[in-house]
Amino acid sequence: MPAYKETKMKYGYFDDNAKEYVITSPKTPLPWINYLGTDGFFSLVSNTCGGYSFYKDAKLLRLTRYRYNNVPADNNGKYYYINDGKDIWNPGWQPSKTPLDLYECRHGIGYSRFTGKKNGLKAEVLAFVPVGDNCEINKVTLTNESEEIKAFKLFSYVEWCLWNADDDMKNFQRLLSCGEVEIKGSAIYHKTEYRERRAHYAFFSVNEKIDGFDTIRDDFLGAYNNNDRPDAVVNGKAGNTVASGWSPIASHQINISLKPGESKTLIFVLGYIENPENEKWESYGVINKKPAEAMQARYTTEADTEKAFAALKNYWDELLAKYHVESKDEKVNRMVNIWNQYQCMVTFNMSRSASYYESGIGRGMGFRDSCQDLLGFVHLIPDRARERIIDIASTQFEDGRAYHQYQPLTKKGNSDIGSGFNDDPLWLIAGTSAYVRETGDTSILMEKVPFDNDESKATPLMDHLKRSFDFTATHKGPHGLPLIGRADWNDCLNLNCFSEHPGESFQTFGPGEGPVAESVFIGGMFVKYGKEYADLCELIGDKAEAARALEEVEKMNKTVLSEGWDGEWFVRAYDAYSHKVGSKECEEGQIYIEPQGFCVMAGIGLAEGKAVKALDSVKERLDTEYGVMILQPAYTKYHLELGEVSSYPPGYKENAGIFCHNNPWVSIAETVVGRGDRAFEIYKKTCPAYVEDISEIHRTEPYVYSQMVAGRDAKFHGEAKNSWLTGTAAWTFVNISQYILGICPTHKGLSVDPCVPADFGDFTVVRKFRGATYNISVENKGVQKGVKELVVDGRKIEGTVIPFEEGKSEYNVKVIMG
Ligand code: BGC
Ligand code: NOJ
Repeated sequence: MPAYKETKMKYGYFDDNAKEYVITSPKTPLPWINYLGTDGFFSLVSNTCGGYSFYKDAKLLRLTRYRYNNVPADNNGKYYYINDGKDIWNPGWQPSKTPLDLYECRHGIGYSRFTGKKNGLKAEVLAFVPVGDNCEINKVTLTNESEEIKAFKLFSYVEWCLWNADDDMKNFQRLLSCGEVEIKGSAIYHKTEYRERRAHYAFFSVNEKIDGFDTIRDDFLGAYNNNDRPDAVVNGKAGNTVASGWSPIASHQINISLKPGESKTLIFVLGYIENPENEKWESYGVINKKPAEAMQARYTTEADTEKAFAALKNYWDELLAKYHVESKDEKVNRMVNIWNQYQCMVTFNMSRSASYYESGIGRGMGFRDSCQDLLGFVHLIPDRARERIIDIASTQFEDGRAYHQYQPLTKKGNSDIGSGFNDDPLWLIAGTSAYVRETGDTSILMEKVPFDNDESKATPLMDHLKRSFDFTATHKGPHGLPLIGRADWNDCLNLNCFSEHPGESFQTFGPGEGPVAESVFIGGMFVKYGKEYADLCELIGDKAEAARALEEVEKMNKTVLSEGWDGEWFVRAYDAYSHKVGSKECEEGQIYIEPQGFCVMAGIGLAEGKAVKALDSVKERLDTEYGVMILQPAYTKYHLELGEVSSYPPGYKENAGIFCHNNPWVSIAETVVGRGDRAFEIYKKTCPAYVEDISEIHRTEPYVYSQMVAGRDAKFHGEAKNSWLTGTAAWTFVNISQYILGICPTHKGLSVDPCVPADFGDFTVVRKFRGATYNISVENKGVQKGVKELVVDGRKIEGTVIPFEEGKSEYNVKVIMG
């Protein structure tokens, strides 16, 4: 009998000291994954050792194969099989699924640890990608916990992907003839296509003499076999096969004998190597392995590996220490201090490319996605945010519009999807403004940046922002609101597309542009980010431009209040016939969340009482116990004039799902009107740590946000989908850190203006900002918002902003709310 229990609602627990989520049952409702890697080399790893690795681009440089949409679920990974003469088992349970005496998976920050026990043998696998190296290390430790000598055989296993993951799934007629490997000592090299246009290869090595190997998949597994009980493992004998074509793998066999109490550690390395064109070969047909051998040599001893692991831990500890809260709510502490920041880094790295829901072969980096991702990431590594801003801005067109996506390897705009998503340009202002507020580095605004990657057309970044601003200011419809184009933030609101046939892309079909369809949401964005643009103009001393911008903003503000107000809430849009979308006049889709959140965040309707009214309508019409739905009532039929939004079954995705990304907008909006209780209530509803107790319903990982939770109209209300890669990560971090806890970077310095539930209690925050450490303690005797007193290093300060002083390294700040 397995010792682990199939608990009903929980499948593990948080270990906050270790910064880990500990999974105690392998049969989680869905694979619960983690990401390894901080820069170039990345691996996804599930709680049962499934997953895959790639270098920089999950489509073009995929190292190992993964089978999406397969049965059994989560098929393929980096597996270690043990044949102890009695059983064949894996420390991470899959793929043999042999019941274990103990199973544990600890997903940590940039690493995962697996422990399996069977028949007196303990097997531990520690998987991580070292900082600054292009490899994944698997430290495998085997311990004999029995009273007898244990002799057993260990087999490793990875299946190579033939590099281009898209081709790998389609182009069998070519690729099944191309696979090539080399074996040298204990390292297996994958060199498919290296003979022609590639100068890179991968390897899988172990720091121990091996007793055999396999590289022909179908020989290792046996014809018609799954990977649960490979022939070689069952027979206890590798075939020493050398692949030629078909599906190459890398498998090592190591025979081990351990005395009672004895342990043995093996270090496996999965590495990626690029050689200069003129140093590709060692001799005719033999790849140059020098850099690979140097990489292997870096991790030969346990001490080397421990050192690399300690460096990784240290790297993360330093990053996470940039924002640290201690409140009486341990779930807030855990999400803010650990998981939310971690997810922000992952979304920044991956954009929407590679997850268990994004196959890594589809879209590249999103223009708007990346701009938003950096809102939650910029405090971690501002220099990388800077670089990203320049990359993104380099894909902008001269007239201010933007490619909707770009490819991470080439950094070129993606012509398949093109442009025409009219919210895109404004997100560039949002990202840049966040960067400058965080760092105070105005030099970025002067940085010369090309248009559409054409260096001859480079102009300062500030000029790009101006064009973003002007694009919206000059593309307005009959009501004076911004034209929507193909869609705005809501990719599925396709008001100019009119797609009637399956298979057509809702986004790129049809004219895409039109002179009539308008977005109130973009109007809200324009007011919010138009003000931030004006602030940047002020900052560089361009008062005239700042004043001009604010005039445009004021014009839009008025227009939204008159043309975008429906009586109880903000209208969502006007369609191509100038009919309202998201209005009480509509039969379905009467109220949408986005304009309520964004317009109130922008401050529209505060003075007129419309802001509060809009938020009350959200509560009344869109709230559920699992979060706030995107719209109501759900569309029950396809509306040609609205597009993809009405294509989803009611309750899913943009059609009345709880689209988590915009829940923080409403929560922030609540802080703008000063309602901390409600802001926090919204925060909690989608917060993974709070829904851990209902994992059976929620189903995705309880330590990260998912893009969507099924809405009230859906059959599986409360069930989440598309975990990990979502703008929810950045926006919730902005919400909790800057608005609820209220520590917000401004151009002049950090502002402290919390908006919390009345009973939230006192809390402290340590915030690293522009090279200084801020030790902030907030006293609260029961109010939701308001700073009665701000004391910085013993001096009382007016307002909420701690003036930034160049060269000062520490600020001790006391805030009394009231
Ligand atoms: C999805 C959106 C996505 C869009 C563009 C739609 O099918 O629902 O979430 O942003 O496609 O890829
Ligand atoms: C997911 C996309 O990545 C994001 O850009 C978009 O805003 C949302 N879906 C809403 O449609």
